[in-house]
Amino acid sequence: MGRPFSRRHFLLSSGAVASAGVIAARPRGGSSEDPGVVVVASDNGLAAVERAYELALAGTLPVDAAVAGVSLVEADPADQTVGLGGLPNEDGVVELDASVMCGPTYRAGAVASLRNIMHPSQVALTVMRRTDHVLLVGEGALRFAKQHGFREQELLTEASRLEWLRWKESLSSEDDRLTPEQAEAGFSGVGGGGGKRDKRETGTINLCVRNAAGDLGGCTTTSGLAWKIPGRVGDSPLIGAGLYVDNEVGAAGSTGRGEATILSCGAHTVVELMRGGLHPKDACLEVLRRIATRTKQRHLLREDGRVAFNLNLYAVSKAGAFGAACLYGPHRYAVATKDGVRHEDEAALYER
Ligand code: GLY
Repeated sequence: MGRPFSRRHFLLSSGAVASAGVIAARPRGGSSEDPGVVVVASDNGLAAVERAYELALAGTLPVDAAVAGVSLVEADPADQTVGLGGLPNEDGVVELDASVMCGPTYRAGAVASLRNIMHPSQVALTVMRRTDHVLLVGEGALRFAKQHGFREQELLTEASRLEWLRWKESLSSEDDRLTPEQAEAGFSGVGGGGGKRDKRETGTINLCVRNAAGDLGGCTTTSGLAWKIPGRVGDSPLIGAGLYVDNEVGAAGSTGRGEATILSCGAHTVVELMRGGLHPKDACLEVLRRIATRTKQRHLLREDGRVAFNLNLYAVSKAGAFGAACLYGPHRYAVATKDGVRHEDEAALYER
């Protein structure tokens, strides 16, 4: 059992409020077994799942509840993996990626390499609602955001600038460029690290919502890999990689090494495995197994031949089953259900 919801949550949950019509949707099945609203998110999304839960319970569309939840994290300068205060690229510039997807309408919106706007998730939502496109990037995404009234601001905080400067002043093997020799060594077998070993953790928040009617929505938002090559786009804004929602089946998303999720079409594959009958947790684990066995580049492998990076997948089914898994545990994810808001342990393919 997690920590109880806020007073506002209890008010929204109460029969008095429900009978007054504040809670718009009743579970389709209507049985007492119905899980009701279910929200899952990455570890850094505890406040976000609570916000999204309360909104979904009050009748807000899942995709809007998801964006409202992650907006708390985007605005938090202490989270250096998302929005304001995100760690910058190689040049010291914060570049943000985000996507949203709405189950009932099967529409999506996304932005990549967006600078100077604190809430890329809200711009992605605007792309979904106010264009006939799915993905806007760079300068065009920024112009679009400004046209819709988003305010430009400096996103690089003093703490993130100092961390970037420390990295810049000690440039070493921890960058994203491969020498011809390292690229050549990439496919020659197991282990060794190829002279590069990436210790950077990729942050990000993914949050998926299933409402009491079984409708789904989700959002993934990130500042991406710290010190990335300018213009690098991760999995977060790519529908099917960092986020995918099929209202008949489920919703899934990811955090961690985006390149691996892109190559495996991670979120889409999780949803398709759920369509085939797997529990969300097992679907996540199966995708991670595939990533682990298909990773061949030496600089991405440890001495023992296992992958040298981490990756998390999160999923919720239309019926309200949910789960998450990572390559290396222990790792937690955030959950909000009628049992409360809490962290739960992810299933892990390997222990560290
Ligand atoms: N998963 C976030 C990224 O790789 O950018």
